[in-house]
Amino acid sequence: MALPRLYSGMQPSSGSLHLGNYIGALQQWRAMQDDYDAFFSIVDLHAITVPQDPAVLREQVRTLAAQYIAGGIDPDRSCLYVQSHVGAHAQLQWLLSTITGFGEASRMTQFKDKTAKGGQEAASVGLFTYPILMAADILLYDTQVVPVGDDQKQHVELTRDLSERFNKRFGKTFTVPKPVILDSGARIYDLQNPASKMSKSAETDKGIVWLLDEPARTAKKIRSAVTDTEGSIRADKAEKPGVTNLLGILSATTGRSVDDLSAEFDGQGYGAFKTAVADAVVAELAPVRERTLELLADPAELDRLLAANADRAAEVADATLRRALEAMGL
Ligand code: ADP
Ligand code: NA
Repeated sequence: MALPRLYSGMQPSSGSLHLGNYIGALQQWRAMQDDYDAFFSIVDLHAITVPQDPAVLREQVRTLAAQYIAGGIDPDRSCLYVQSHVGAHAQLQWLLSTITGFGEASRMTQFKDKTAKGGQEAASVGLFTYPILMAADILLYDTQVVPVGDDQKQHVELTRDLSERFNKRFGKTFTVPKPVILDSGARIYDLQNPASKMSKSAETDKGIVWLLDEPARTAKKIRSAVTDTEGSIRADKAEKPGVTNLLGILSATTGRSVDDLSAEFDGQGYGAFKTAVADAVVAELAPVRERTLELLADPAELDRLLAANADRAAEVADATLRRALEAMGL
C-alpha cells in the first residue's frame, strides 16, 4: 500500500540551522520518512519576499540542503528539492490567487505580525500573497499531511479552503490536506534568555547553538547557559526555565525521559549537569556538522543531487498543474 503523502517546506534564511530547528523540525521529519512519502522543499521563492542578497541566498540554499541530508533526510527515499527549480509552484500560485478573496488574504495573521514593525506600505506584495504560494506548494503534491508549527496552522487552513473551493467550482482536482501540529514538547529555548524560544532572529548569538558551530563553542555555550540559584534539577517551566530547557535538550538528544534524567542528575550540581548536556549535544551534532562540511566541499555533486530531486518533484507537480489548467478552461 502506498504511504500517505507529506509535504513540508523550510526557508533558506540562515546559513546554519540552530538546535531548535534541529530538534523541533529536522529530527521529527527524519522519523516521519518511515511512515510517509515525503516531499521536503527548500522554499527560496518564499525567501525572496523580503530583501535578500543573491550570492548569500544561493549559498544558504546549498548549506540548508547539506544540513538536511547530513541530519538524516534521505534524498533517495524522500524528495528534497529547491522550490524555484520547479516552475509549477509560481504558475499554480497565480491560478489560486484568482480564487482567493482580498479580505481572506488580509486576515492572515503572519503578514500582520511580519509588518507590525516596518508597516504594510513598505512590505512587498509577495509577502502579502505568501500564503497563496504556500497553498500551491502543498496542493501540487496531492499532499495529505502537512507537519507545521502553530504559527503556520492558519496557512494550512487557507490551503484547505482554497482546495475545497476550487474542487467545487471546477471539479475535483486537488487533495484536501490536513495539518499535523509538531510536538510542542520539542520546543527549545534561548540558553541566555530561556523565556524566549531559540531563534535565528535573537539579538545575540550566545544563547543559540548553531549546528555548524565548532564543538568546543557549542560546549561553551551550554556550560554558560543561564539557570537559577536554587540548585535542584527538576522540570518547572515557570520557576526554573533554564534548567527545564536543558532537561528538554538532554531528553531530545539522548532519547531518555525528563523524569528519568531529573532523577539521575538531581543532587549532582549544575556544573556536572551542564557538562552532561554539552556532551550529549556535541555527540549528536558533531557528526552532522562534519557530514555537512563534507557535502559542501563538493558543490557540483550537491547540485546534481538537487537537480535529480527537482526532476522527480516536477513530474508530480506538472501533472497536478495540468489538471488545474484544464479544469479552469486554460
Ligand atoms: P526561527 O524561529 O529561528 O526563525 P523558523 O521559523 O525558520 O526558525 O523555523 C523552522 C522550523 O524550526 C519550524 O518547523 C519551526 O517550528 C522549528 N523551530 C524554530 N525554532 C524552534 C525552537 N526554538 N524549538 C523548536 N522548534 C523550532
Ligand atoms: Na520564525
